[in-house]
Amino acid sequence: MGDLGLTAGPLQYGFLLATPVLIIRALRLPAHPLPMLRFRCFRNTDPPHVTRIWQSRAGQPGLAQPVSPDLFEEYVFGKLHFDYGGLIFALEDDCPAGFVHAAFGPDAARHWIAPETGVIAMLQACPGDSEHEIARALVVEAEAYLRTRGAKVVYGGCVQPHNPFYMGLYGGADLPGVLDTDTVFQEALRANGYQPVRQIAVLRRALHDFQPPADRQQVQYRRRMLVQVIVDPPARNRWEALTTGDFDLTRFELVPRGSGQTAAYLVVRDMAIGNHAAGRTVGVVELEVDPAERRKGLATCLLSETFRMLAGQGFDTVEMNIPADDAIGMRLAEKLGFCETCRGTLFRKEW
Ligand SMILES: CC(C)(COP(=O)(O)OP(=O)(O)OC[C@H]1O[C@@H](n2cnc3c(N)ncnc32)[C@H](O)[C@@H]1OP(=O)(O)O)[C@@H](O)C(=O)NCCC(=O)NCCS
Repeated sequence: MGDLGLTAGPLQYGFLLATPVLIIRALRLPAHPLPMLRFRCFRNTDPPHVTRIWQSRAGQPGLAQPVSPDLFEEYVFGKLHFDYGGLIFALEDDCPAGFVHAAFGPDAARHWIAPETGVIAMLQACPGDSEHEIARALVVEAEAYLRTRGAKVVYGGCVQPHNPFYMGLYGGADLPGVLDTDTVFQEALRANGYQPVRQIAVLRRALHDFQPPADRQQVQYRRRMLVQVIVDPPARNRWEALTTGDFDLTRFELVPRGSGQTAAYLVVRDMAIGNHAAGRTVGVVELEVDPAERRKGLATCLLSETFRMLAGQGFDTVEMNIPADDAIGMRLAEKLGFCETCRGTLFRKEW
């Protein structure tokens, strides 16, 4: 990464030596003068700059607000896998006007980072005429950092398991890639050759009017099944501890009475941080039914019972992210009355 002054426009140099055609091109200057940008890595005194840049996007959907340096300290800079070199600022007149955060996905054992898989986890720039130029240049800087660390493939945006940072701060129950409303980040990725590979739907449902399905099968399940509640379930691996350890998680398990065998489970997090709905919101971050027991109404039963309990605890809204191409998950959500509020896109680039 260079701490050199860079201009983003190629048309301002050397036109005295250019051919007539190039002279004409050189005179076609952009509508707004392009910024003089410099770049530098994160320092201990920078949390207020990240906070200020984030706050400058207030009103942009999906960004947790209000934020503070302490919040970023807790959820980003204080993490064991945070590397100062990966958080890069663009400076306009020596003032940070945007930042990109390049990091890595997990290794196969979900124990630590895998340097061959880069993730551009976040990019935000202060609104203004130069926001797109700043964002594009920041992606180039992020790539330079990731390359020197050994990345061969880079994801633009975070989706499990490539979710090193920003859960709770961005995008709802879980990380949705880059929100489609985050046009500056998305445009910078596309301009640098990233391809969209997945869309994630962010879905929401109010709990006050939720009625569990009353068909015969569901009524029988309510007699035959127990829901076990495990508060603060232990992380299954170190990556999970690193990325979700800060949240109040609760696991709900559906167990046939008289059997110790879990037929289905789901995990929710209290969205005290990153709540974009009115009232108290809870996010479903995991849901799985035993493969041998699918298509028998167990997910419907577990979700219904869980929603009933959560409403009883004073939660108003439930959120869930589902890959848009997961037809089963989307049908399940539709059956239970979820509505899509927005979408995110996961991008990818290889070299
Ligand atoms: C998605 C999953 C949780 C559904 O569990 P399930 O117990 O089979 O779901 P249910 O039997 O309660 O079905 C509820 C609704 O989901 C939809 N659905 C479930 N399985 C389906 C299938 N194979 N094909 C089409 N629709 C399906 C239907 O709309 C169904 O309602 P219907 O039976 O009235 O048509 C389960 O398939 C699973 O664990 N998948 C792997 C993990 C996963 O993808 N988790 C994320 C899901 S959001």
